[in-house]
Amino acid sequence: MAKKRVGVLISGNGSNLQALIDACKSPDYPAEITAVISNKSDAYGLNRAAEAGIPSHVVPHKEYATREAFDEEMDGLLAHHSVEIVCLAGFMRLLSPWFVKKWQGRLLNIHPSLLPAFKGAHAVRDALAAGAKESGCTVHLVTDELDSGPMIAQARVPVLPGDTEESLHKRIHAEEHRIYPAALKKLIEGE
Ligand code: GAR
Repeated sequence: MAKKRVGVLISGNGSNLQALIDACKSPDYPAEITAVISNKSDAYGLNRAAEAGIPSHVVPHKEYATREAFDEEMDGLLAHHSVEIVCLAGFMRLLSPWFVKKWQGRLLNIHPSLLPAFKGAHAVRDALAAGAKESGCTVHLVTDELDSGPMIAQARVPVLPGDTEESLHKRIHAEEHRIYPAALKKLIEGE
């Protein structure tokens, strides 16, 4: 069967992008990454895309008058690369309802908490501050409501005594790199 063409949106380091790139190297993995888009020109993930020979684009959100205009630019690039599924991988911008509707059922996000707990941009810090004994990560389909939408995969990690935001996030990242490729495969194979 033909591999599904995936676009990955990033804002930073892109370690989840790397996990997806690595998974796609396997001949029986059902996806290939055909485009990477970053809203930040200094995102390290752009180097990862270049290293893997994947076309990438920078779409600086500040240059667009509205959220929708920014999303339309990205949507045009995704169409140009014949993208069929979009994965958000540390993409730290809210998407417009128009974009979310257009990609409904084909738009995945990874979030560093056990959703529905600790939504938002500082999930790891918030879990620590709340004294959570356990944290983790969630891959879900994106809907209009922030960090909500049907869950595809989740993994749990303990919060250990003395954890900092960094040490906890590192533990969560290791699980993210495992479940994101698995969740994408699951979506494609319709499990
Ligand atoms: C990941 O932990 C991801 O779950 C989180 O940003 C990090 C990006 O890491 N996303 C969010 O917080 C979205 N609300 P990466 O750039 O190394 O993949």
